[in-house]
Amino acid sequence: MGATGKAYGLDMTDEMLALARENQRKAGLPNVEFLKGEIEQIPLKDASVDVVISNCVINLSADKDRVLAEAFRVLRPGGRFAVSDIVVRGSVSADLRRNIELWVGCVAGALEESEYRQKLARAGFEAIDLEPTRIYRAADAVALLTGSGFDAQAVAREVDGKFMSTFVRARKPGAQKLA
Ligand SMILES: C[S@@+](CC[C@H](N)C(=O)[O-])C[C@H]1O[C@@H](n2cnc3c(N)ncnc32)[C@H](O)[C@@H]1O
Repeated sequence: MGATGKAYGLDMTDEMLALARENQRKAGLPNVEFLKGEIEQIPLKDASVDVVISNCVINLSADKDRVLAEAFRVLRPGGRFAVSDIVVRGSVSADLRRNIELWVGCVAGALEESEYRQKLARAGFEAIDLEPTRIYRAADAVALLTGSGFDAQAVAREVDGKFMSTFVRARKPGAQKLA
């Protein structure tokens, strides 16, 4: 962002906005502005930002198409979408999703990776790339579900390799004008 750029932070809760503003104050960053709102309806103008970043928020939304359309709308031509999200690899039963939700709250609405690509493409993005940064293995599930009342071993076998923390990148078509 540098000294002349500007970053907006968006969250729908007063608690997270208060925490973010407190961190901003401690870090002494004047060119950051926090906005209250929803990612399904971003309170920014069309083509007003160069990059959209986020960590573990899009997978919580019940309307991913709307979120991706909003990210596309606020990006300038050539702008980049670069978010971290939980993504599913392969098919996962509804029962497993419910059990895993107790383990990592974020996974209930996680998209399957090819579905994520399709939705990004439908929103208009190009240069779509999904890079797993951590693939959750059976041992991770056993460690977390032991003592939870679930059959940790059975769930772990089904979970192995299916949930991934993923860096999702894409670009809005068009030439980026450098300021
Ligand atoms: C799992 S936390 C991640 C927070 C932060 N990105 C981090 O990495 O620590 C999810 C955050 O997203 C916010 N959130 C969830 N759904 C949202 C939505 N539809 N619109 C705006 N904010 C949302 C929540 O209020 C919460 O602060």
